[in-house]
Amino acid sequence: MKDKILAMLRENQNVFVSGEMLSDRLGVSRTAVWKCIRELREEGYDIEASSRKGYKLGSTEVYNAAEIQWALPTRILGKQVVYRPVLDSTNVLAKRLAMEDCPEGTVVVADTQTAGRGRLGRDWSSSPCKGIWMSVVLRPAAKPEEVNLITLAAAVAVVRALKDAAGVEAAIKWPNDVLLDGKKVCGILTEMGSEMERVHYVILGIGINVNQEAADFPPELRDKAVSLYSFCAKQGSDGRLFNRSEIVKKILFYLEDLYSTMNHGKTNDIIHAWKEHTCTLNKVVKIKDKNGCMTGTAEDITSDGRLVVRLEDGTLREILSGEISVRGLLGYS
Ligand code: BTN
Repeated sequence: MKDKILAMLRENQNVFVSGEMLSDRLGVSRTAVWKCIRELREEGYDIEASSRKGYKLGSTEVYNAAEIQWALPTRILGKQVVYRPVLDSTNVLAKRLAMEDCPEGTVVVADTQTAGRGRLGRDWSSSPCKGIWMSVVLRPAAKPEEVNLITLAAAVAVVRALKDAAGVEAAIKWPNDVLLDGKKVCGILTEMGSEMERVHYVILGIGINVNQEAADFPPELRDKAVSLYSFCAKQGSDGRLFNRSEIVKKILFYLEDLYSTMNHGKTNDIIHAWKEHTCTLNKVVKIKDKNGCMTGTAEDITSDGRLVVRLEDGTLREILSGEISVRGLLGYS
């Protein structure tokens, strides 16, 4: 019944709906309606109550599974959403669910991560209640070496979602850091369970800095990380916080579209979309690997997502994974 009341209030957002109308439509007492309203308020919904006019749903952000699933325009992604206020890492829970055979497209979100994981064994700073910390379980009919493309697709989905949500043009630093103003607004950690030839599952972990202020980041990250909110505030926005549930929905929508493109074998479309948004091509890059450090110019990206770099001695090198620095970004001058 609570869900039905919420749905009716949503249909009339910012308008009063009388208690009498709610109780008539649902065939329950006014007291039962009031009890549900009280529970919704406890969950964080901003519902104004007036003895004469009834109930009005305001626009405070609520971040939970029901909010993400409300009017979610996808077929597969997000049909199951697992929300936890606190988790060590959404990737860890998603991996467990994947191993227990959860449906493809299961999404895990948390308000807070106590042990968020980044690429290359690093930690990921996950400020409580201000970011999107989410993991999506996928089961692509792909070979392990093709999984790179899913990560590229995810970066494109995030760029598109941020554009929709805030009108910003984010850029992708190879392979999958999303930047605003040269600072990191999103990182993606893809993990998989596979055999030599077959992928069992992919966990696509996406971390987005949404509503943090500079002071919410640890001091060592303040000149490298940025949130959508603080970027927009600097551009003269009205200072409003962003609704994370809405952004998650947009990401799932774009991701599903790109994932289906990929599953239909149109991998070039993913590469093409990625190239449209990257800030890495035609830039001087420094590549760090186990053999040391090399410098070159990023010339292209291959059909399976490797970065093609022309080294200073004129030879071409294809890089599959690892870390690069792009001159002019994130402290590389
Ligand atoms: C990076 O190093 O850039 C990748 C960061 C990925 C962070 C996200 S937050 C949600 C998911 N859960 C994790 O523990 N990590 C990823």
